[in-house]
Amino acid sequence: MSDFEESAKALQEQIIEQAREEYSEVVIEHWLHPRNPYAMDNPDGHGRVKGPCGDTMDIFIRVTDGKITDASFVTDGCITSVVSGSMAVEMATGRDVSEARAISKDDILNALGGLPEVSQHCALLASNTLRAAVDNYMF
Ligand code: FES
Repeated sequence: MSDFEESAKALQEQIIEQAREEYSEVVIEHWLHPRNPYAMDNPDGHGRVKGPCGDTMDIFIRVTDGKITDASFVTDGCITSVVSGSMAVEMATGRDVSEARAISKDDILNALGGLPEVSQHCALLASNTLRAAVDNYMF
């Protein structure tokens, strides 16, 4: 490993260590490995919502026999919106569309082990976007 690579790795570890003081292990894991962060081709449902902060999220779902078999997301928002979108698509996958539609901001926050107060609206953006994707499929 070159000196540059070693110092970049050390810096990354330092940033992760600092993040651990504020965020749960689940948040850090979704931050480092977001689930399906891409725009799906020909989805069965697609929602796009712009939050009050000005950030936008898209969620895409694939549905078979009323069940979400695949889901993905993209966002131009902050890290906590990435983490919230990632958790929303993970929670939606494998569920009936009506169950997925009922996933709330608090469900996402609980699954993430919480977010700082200032970032909780990112979980609301994710739940609203998931609902919009399911509505696009259903109605
Ligand atoms: Fe806008 Fe997180 S600050 S979604």
